[in-house]
Amino acid sequence: MLDKLLYIETFGCQMNVNDSERIVSMLAELGYVPTNSPAAADMILLNTCSVRGGAEEKVYRRLANLRIYKRDGKKQIIAVGGCVAQQEGDRLLEKLPYLDLVIGTHNLHLLPDMVRGAERGERRSETTFIDNEERLDLFPTINGESRLSRFVTVMQGCDNFCSYCIVPFVRGREISRRSGDILAEVRQLAEDGVREVILLGQNVNSYGLKSDSEPSFATLIRRVAEIEGINRIRFTTSHPKDISDELIACFADIPQLSGQIHLPAQSGSDKVLKSMGRGYTRDSYLDKVARLRGVRPDLVFTGDIIVGFPGETEYDFEQTISLMESVRYIDLFSFVYSPRPGTKAAELPDDLPKAEKMARLDRLMQLQRRHTSEICSRYLNTNMTVLVEGEGKLPGQVSGKGDIGRIVNFAGDRSLIGSFVDVRIIKAYPNSFLGEL
Ligand code: SAH
Ligand code: SF4
Ligand code: F3S
Repeated sequence: MLDKLLYIETFGCQMNVNDSERIVSMLAELGYVPTNSPAAADMILLNTCSVRGGAEEKVYRRLANLRIYKRDGKKQIIAVGGCVAQQEGDRLLEKLPYLDLVIGTHNLHLLPDMVRGAERGERRSETTFIDNEERLDLFPTINGESRLSRFVTVMQGCDNFCSYCIVPFVRGREISRRSGDILAEVRQLAEDGVREVILLGQNVNSYGLKSDSEPSFATLIRRVAEIEGINRIRFTTSHPKDISDELIACFADIPQLSGQIHLPAQSGSDKVLKSMGRGYTRDSYLDKVARLRGVRPDLVFTGDIIVGFPGETEYDFEQTISLMESVRYIDLFSFVYSPRPGTKAAELPDDLPKAEKMARLDRLMQLQRRHTSEICSRYLNTNMTVLVEGEGKLPGQVSGKGDIGRIVNFAGDRSLIGSFVDVRIIKAYPNSFLGEL
């Protein structure tokens, strides 16, 4: 039988990246292999994100573009998955006559059946939420392609309902995966040659809090650290309000735990944080940063900031700038606030002109570029342990990540792939390092 070709485009966060990997692995069983060419594909799937506005329009535009390939009367299955699919559901099928499948965030397990149907010309949309334990048993895991670094989902959904955020509406209630299942998966990955795991969820440090039978996130990390072969552990995303003493202690005594933590502050203003419903203050955030640094002085921080939240004054914005000066992030993801349907913040009056919001974003990004460059230059002429994951940017180079999560390219032989090596950093670029063995 000839292979069928699957073209996937993934938008949004790591949950979607991970779901796309799951989809590839599930559809391999139906004979689909990934392709980079939408023109050649038998099936096109957009795995979408709706965290900021214009998401639906972007999907329509992208599909319209991809559709130029659907010609010669050749039947191509067109599918939309992810958070826009969850949000729009049947409406997508109604609006787009050429669309075959809409697959919501809780329904991935139905995809093989849906694709078989679509091969026979059936159109179908599945977006039912499964907000109970049952979801975990339907959760497809990834097999196939061996790699050195892998995501491992520990929880799904979010219960925080930050006032600006659509995620709780499109990913549903928070559910922690059973620790037994997580550890079994990590053990299997270790046996398959995986050396780094990234524990994944919208709010990983609230792992297990809703369940009597599951351990805390800190205990889960300790159990993962006991698994032979796993030399590096990362996690994302953690909510500052749920950083516990127990978790801080992990950074003191688990050598495998990465030297970087993503800790989104969103704002440095108490007034704005309150209106966002984040559940922490500027001081308590900075206190957690200080305590993490207290046990691990070389820990680097990355974060997210929203600029121009409704009611953000010049003073509030200055507070964010001053928070950045205190924390000094190695990397920061910054966004202009975008109202999302159904969220609380979408009801708030928002009279700050767009130009002013853009000007604030610009100022913030300039400061961040300076911080990134200053922090990265501290690593010049120091040694970094790099997990070599593949070929580098230039011929003759290999590439991997150091403990702080940044890419390091250096001249070296392909035979190094899969091992940890010590590399001296000789140049710092905005997004990577150049090193030498
Ligand atoms: N669960 C994670 C991330 C969720 S979405 C967390 O709590 O940190 C990723 C980022 O998108 C958020 O951290 C936030 O900075 C940004 N974001 C979410 N909703 C947004 C909105 N309505 N407008 C602008 N940025 C938004
Ligand atoms: Fe959104 Fe807040 Fe949940 Fe993060 S914690 S996904 S920002 S609601
Ligand atoms: Fe986007 Fe959905 Fe992730 S809205 S950020 S893809 S959970």
